[in-house]
Amino acid sequence: MPRIEIENKVLSCPVIVGTENEKAIDISNLRAQTGYITLDDSLANTGSCKSSITYIDGDKGVLRYRGYPIEQLAEKSSFTETAYLIIYGKLPNESEYQNFSNLLTEQQILHEGFRHHFEGFPNNAHPMAMLSAMINAMGCYQSDLYDERSGETSNFDKSAAQLISQVRTIAAAAYKMSIGQPMVYPYPNKRYAENFLHMMFSLPNQPYEVDPLVLHALTLFLILHVDHEQNCSTSTVRLVASSGANLHASCSAGVCALWGRLHGGANQAVVEMLTKIKNADYTVKDFIEKVKNKEGGAKLMGFGHRVYKNYDPRAKILQNAAYKLLKTLGKGDELLEVAHELSEFALQDDYFIERKLYPNVDFYSGIILQAIGIPLNMFTVMFAIGRMPGWIAHWKEITENTKQRIYRPRQIYVGETHRNYIPLEERL
Ligand code: ACO
Repeated sequence: MPRIEIENKVLSCPVIVGTENEKAIDISNLRAQTGYITLDDSLANTGSCKSSITYIDGDKGVLRYRGYPIEQLAEKSSFTETAYLIIYGKLPNESEYQNFSNLLTEQQILHEGFRHHFEGFPNNAHPMAMLSAMINAMGCYQSDLYDERSGETSNFDKSAAQLISQVRTIAAAAYKMSIGQPMVYPYPNKRYAENFLHMMFSLPNQPYEVDPLVLHALTLFLILHVDHEQNCSTSTVRLVASSGANLHASCSAGVCALWGRLHGGANQAVVEMLTKIKNADYTVKDFIEKVKNKEGGAKLMGFGHRVYKNYDPRAKILQNAAYKLLKTLGKGDELLEVAHELSEFALQDDYFIERKLYPNVDFYSGIILQAIGIPLNMFTVMFAIGRMPGWIAHWKEITENTKQRIYRPRQIYVGETHRNYIPLEERL
C-alpha cells in the first residue's frame, strides 16, 4: 500500500483499481490523519468519483459508453437507443426501447406558458442563456416530477424523458422566435433528430424535407456528444446534484458550464477561426505563429484536450462524416479545406507535437452543423442537446449513491491575514 510520510506521520493509502486497470491512491483520510490537504489546481490529477458510465483512455484515443466502443455506436445505434444505454446502463430490448421512445414523444410538447418566457428575452439573446433558463422553468411546470418539500426528483423516468425531448423543442423554438417565425410543433411519429430538423426548418404550409444524409450526420453528431465522463459541464452537474438539487436544476447548471469557449463553446469558436483564415484575415502559417507565441492568448481552437493526448476518436469520425456530407450535398468545402490545412500544419509542428495537441471533437463538428444549416450561435446548444442524456446519467449515478457526500473541495488561502476593521472616516 503506498505510504505518504509527512512530519513523522505516516499514512497508508489504499490503491483503488478500476475495471480497466486505472489506478488511484485513496487520500480521503489525509487531512484527518496528517492535517494536510492535496492541492491540484483545476483538478487535473484528481479523480472526483468512481463512475461506471463512460471510459476514456486518453493516451490510446479510446472512448466507450457503458463498455461499448464509440465507433460501434456511431455506426450502428440511434440517438434514442444510445441515450437509453447511457442512462440505464444497458442496451434496451424491444419493449424497453418502445416504452422509452413513447415517453420521449409524450413529453415533447412545451407547456403553452413557455411562449411568455420566450417573449421575455430580447431578440438577440444568446440561445445558451435561454436554454439554461428554460430548463429550470421546465421543471416548474411539472410539479408532479418533484417532491415539493424536499425539491427532490420523484419521477425520474418522466423527468429524464422530458429533459431529453424538450431541450430539442426549446432549442428549435428559440431559433424560430429569434428569426421572427412562428414556432413549429413536433410531429408525434417522427424520430428524434428528424423531428428537430422539422421544428427548426419547416415553414407554415411548407414542411421541411429531410435529406437522409443530413439526418445521418446530425444523428452521428448527437451520439458522439452523449457523454464524456468528468468534463467541466458534467462535473458541474454532479457538483450541483451532490447538494440534493433536482434534475432540471442540475442540468441547467450544466448548460452554463458548457457555454464557455474552452468547453462546448469551442465548436462555434472553431468556425469563427476558420472563417477568419478563409477570409484571408491571416494565413494558416501566420495564425499558427500567433498561437505558438500565445499572442493575445490565441489558441488553435478545436485542438488539445485535458484527457486525450492522442487523436480524439470523435474527431476522426466527424472528420470523415464532414467530407462525406459536404461532397454529397455539393456544398462549398472551403472551411473544411482550411481545417485540413491547419491541422496538417499543426500536427507536424514541434509546439503541438511536444504538447500532444490533437484535434478534439469540436474541430470538425461545427463544419457539419454549418452544412446542416444550424446558425453559428446555436452550435453549443446542439452540443447541449447531445449531452443531455450523459448529464442525466451522472445525476442518476450520484443520486443513487447512498454514501454520496456533498462536493465540497478545500483550498489553500493566500489572501490577507487577520486585520482590524477601520471606520470609513479614518481610512486614508
Ligand atoms: N492551442 C495552442 N496551445 C494549446 C492549446 C491550443 N488549442 N491547448 C493547449 N495548449 C498549450 C497550452 O498553452 C499549454 O502550453 P504551455 O505548456 O506552453 O503553457 C499546453 O498546451 C498545455 O495545455 P493546458 O492549457 O495546460 O491544457 P488543459 O488541459 O488545461 O486545457 C483545453 C485543455 C482547455 C481543451 C485546451 O487544450 C484548449 O484550450 N483547447 C482549445 C479550446 C478547445 O478546443 N476546447 C474544446 C475541448 S473539447 C470539449 O470540451 C468538448
